[in-house]
Amino acid sequence: MSNFYFQNQYQTKISDLSARLRELDSTLELANGVISTDNRWYTGHEKKTVTCELHGDFNQTVLSQEVRGRLHTLESRCPDCVVDEIEAVKNEQKQLLVDRLMDDAGITPRFQHCEFSNYEVVNKAARTNLNACQSYAKSFPELSKKGTGLILIGKCGTGKNHLAVALAKEVIRQHQESVRLTDVMRIIRAVKSTWGKNAERTEADVIDYYASLGLLIIDEVGVQYGSDAEKIILFQIINDRYENMLPTILISNLTMPQLSESIGERLTDRMSEGGGSVLAFNWDSYRQSGVKA
Ligand SMILES: Nc1ncnc2c1ncn2[C@@H]1O[C@H](COP(=O)(O)OP(=O)(O)OP(=O)(O)O)[C@@H](O)[C@H]1O
Ligand SMILES: [Mg+2]
Ligand SMILES: [Zn+2]
Repeated sequence: MSNFYFQNQYQTKISDLSARLRELDSTLELANGVISTDNRWYTGHEKKTVTCELHGDFNQTVLSQEVRGRLHTLESRCPDCVVDEIEAVKNEQKQLLVDRLMDDAGITPRFQHCEFSNYEVVNKAARTNLNACQSYAKSFPELSKKGTGLILIGKCGTGKNHLAVALAKEVIRQHQESVRLTDVMRIIRAVKSTWGKNAERTEADVIDYYASLGLLIIDEVGVQYGSDAEKIILFQIINDRYENMLPTILISNLTMPQLSESIGERLTDRMSEGGGSVLAFNWDSYRQSGVKA
């Protein structure tokens, strides 16, 4: 689904950093005076006090071994410097992972700017919904264990997508989970694209992809229901996720009874299990309101 070139770029960098971390682990071991199996071939062991410009005096281990008339030495580094470097590499790795997950989240340019911080609290319900989405993002690890989802329903232009995008970004930033924002038509199209003879992926591959993401956000639910086949596809994905305790967020312009009718009560029931709440957006469009700064 994603850009495989960038996927691979990220993956290569992430594994390079993992290799660097393993190196640093043994560097730290030596810095703490532990001589690992890899360094057992050094017979000369010496200790001296050395000064690090940043951290002051530390106890340095110097290993040495003469091989064919040449002296090989290995000096341990300042332990605090190594710890700092490990921290920096871990941060770099986390940032790469966040970038990769963001690239893959399906956030379109139109919604790129959406954050909790620029969501205007236009009324009391907007405050409630903003708070609910913020705490959902914050508590994602616990909620996700229970498979708790959310339903965002209501009128056009009230910021359902805005909050869903902000939520997706925060789940990625705070918890590095795989998140995908999509809509019903795109899911149906992706599944149908596997029905041709020369399709690269099978229907099961596509359904598995959607059914295995850490968080799936489905927009435009109930908009253009065509065939029963389409209902079945959606049911299968949401149901697979439900059975695997993976959370799903649905966005719709319908009312709750209409939504239940459109996707079936079985699905909305599954959605509300695990304490998932329904956030209603029933005010006038922000698009035409002129409130926009
Ligand atoms: N309360 C708000 N504060 C800031 N921006 C908002 C707010 N509500 C909506 N917007 C902005 O208005 C535009 C439309 O909002 P959005 O697409 O999220 O609405 P929606 O509820 O998903 O509408 P629709 O049902 O038509 O899909 C977006 O650019 C969004 O950032
Ligand atoms: Mg929308
Ligand atoms: Zn130091």
